[in-house]
Amino acid sequence: MAKQKQIEAIRLSDFPEEIDEKTGLKFYGETSYENQMAVLSQYLHNGSLEGNDTATKNQREEIIAAILEFLERKKSQHSDFEYDLSEDFASMVAENPGQYNLFEDFFNVPFPNPQRSKHTLIDLFAGIGGIRLPFNELGYKCVFSSEWDKFAQQTYFANFGEMPFGDITKESTKKHIPQHFDLLLAGFPCQAFSIMGKMKGFDDIRGTMFFEVATILERHRPQAILLENVKQLTTHDHGRTFKTILRILDELGYHVKWQVLNALDFGLPQKRERVIIVGFQSQSQIDKFSFDFTKKPHSLEKVLEKDDEVDPSLFASEMILAKRKKQTENKRVFYPSIWHENKAGNVSILDYACALRTGASYNYLLVNGKRRPSSRELLRLQGFPDNYKIAVSHGEIRRQTGNSVAVPMIREIAQKIDYILNMN
Ligand SMILES: C[S@@+](CC[C@H](N)C(=O)[O-])C[C@H]1O[C@@H](n2cnc3c(N)ncnc32)[C@H](O)[C@@H]1O
Repeated sequence: MAKQKQIEAIRLSDFPEEIDEKTGLKFYGETSYENQMAVLSQYLHNGSLEGNDTATKNQREEIIAAILEFLERKKSQHSDFEYDLSEDFASMVAENPGQYNLFEDFFNVPFPNPQRSKHTLIDLFAGIGGIRLPFNELGYKCVFSSEWDKFAQQTYFANFGEMPFGDITKESTKKHIPQHFDLLLAGFPCQAFSIMGKMKGFDDIRGTMFFEVATILERHRPQAILLENVKQLTTHDHGRTFKTILRILDELGYHVKWQVLNALDFGLPQKRERVIIVGFQSQSQIDKFSFDFTKKPHSLEKVLEKDDEVDPSLFASEMILAKRKKQTENKRVFYPSIWHENKAGNVSILDYACALRTGASYNYLLVNGKRRPSSRELLRLQGFPDNYKIAVSHGEIRRQTGNSVAVPMIREIAQKIDYILNMN
């Protein structure tokens, strides 16, 4: 009964509309090109108007408007674009998109959605899809994704052929989530933790991104969840923040297990500790899940490109080199290694990176003491395969990889979740 009350409180609540000014992440609204492309991607990958009586008039109009927008963009990019820009034509395309040779950008990608699949998922706070990627390999179909940063959306589109929807705090975004799906993925951001410890229940956590996850779980009740966050989430505010999260998951009917895992143990030359929460609706399913993994040796050699293959602008200035020389005078230097200067000015020289974080730390990472890591190396440090496309600037890749996850770590967890979901 008490549970029911809390759930009602969510439904009745007003949703705050937050834009993160501190991080500078941009919000792209409902009518943006990205949103139109999100509508179109979801339709091309998952929907069909033909014989689909459940597509409402509004959905139809939204899809036709998105196709028109898409055609207009194509026309502005290609002067020889032969297609008609009328609403009638857009509506014909909507009825049978496969007949027109227009949508290869949505399908001709390294990690396409499987045509048929046993299980479906949604990818929240999707970033560049590091959590989704291993599930793609296992044949899971993504039926909704959300990521509000325009550049991360570009990377995601180039690799999965799907433009994520924007701000998940908005009802206009959440309305695109299909009622039924099997698995919810979320590496939710942690900016709001500072206020979470004092919070006790559902109502209190409003305004945090975990509230968005909880709301979606309450409304859609997927069988399984996979949440990822920084290790500090477990200790923040003497553990109170994490306790709140676990309690709310329990109230929502999820049986969970959690563990702090380190990318270094999954074959990556990178120390990166993250808390992983796995949950199932049924106790017997979670009982079958364990965080037992065999440690894999890491190799920096496999990550590094040859110096003459990387952009010359990545090489450190004479001034930095001289400073590093001084800082490492009495240290044993071995190769290959990643040099990392901490805030106190001490340099550690290790065969792995001990900081691949967005922003500051990157400035202090030097490959073999000479140069900054390239975009491909940063992706490899997170375990992204080499056919993962780079579609944005190096600066954006730095930010995106810093925000992303160790793909091999998620891969091992994904295999275990898949094994359990296949038992049904
Ligand atoms: C920790 S990162 C997750 C990265 C992701 N797991 C990956 O593999 O790249 C959190 C992401 O949430 C996005 N984000 C933050 N607030 C959001 C919101 N209100 N709606 C949609 N995305 C949001 C950020 O732009 C960021 O990319």
